[in-house]
Amino acid sequence: MVDIVVSRIAHLIFAAIWAGSVFYVAVVVLPLARDGAFNSTKPLEVISRKLTTISRVSSLVLFISGSHLAGVLYTVDGGSRDLFTSINGQLVLLMIALWLALAALVEIGAKRLESGLNGKKLREPAHDVLPIFQAATVAAVALLVVAGLITTGGAIRFF
Ligand code: HEM
Repeated sequence: MVDIVVSRIAHLIFAAIWAGSVFYVAVVVLPLARDGAFNSTKPLEVISRKLTTISRVSSLVLFISGSHLAGVLYTVDGGSRDLFTSINGQLVLLMIALWLALAALVEIGAKRLESGLNGKKLREPAHDVLPIFQAATVAAVALLVVAGLITTGGAIRFF
């Protein structure tokens, strides 16, 4: 029981941290950099490196806590909590796919941004990676929508 409480709390904390930091970079930091608000590459390099660390730690904690919850709360026996045939089970699988997409998009975006900044350019790399971080933001918000559907039973009621 206590393991479920700890997993749920860890899952929620890191979901908020990860989604929030990706959202902030896509909506505030990169548009500012693209529009020339920074006059050196240093702040953006630090932001990108820290975001990568936040993303890696969050994805690991979410994977571990989420796998534990899936193992404890779901079955593969064809019953009402079956991971593959129940609506909530399928939403958990969708959560895993979106988790993978979010992690990959942040890795790709940060790598490209850092290599652009290494070339001593600033506005151009910020402009180029913005769509990648916007896509990551869509994945992050979609994850929270999926979580909302799971925890409120919304999908079961409406679909
Ligand atoms: C491998 C990755 C993941 C797995 C296996 C996973 C699995 C799960 C499971 C099994 C649940 C509980 C479902 C239920 O109560 O029936 C859950 C809840 C939730 N997940 Fe995930 N998840 C993953 C990644 C993510 C990510 C990346 C986010 C958001 C950034 C996220 C956000 C949430 C939220 C907000 C909840 C509801 C919190 C709660 O009451 O536990 N998950 N997840």
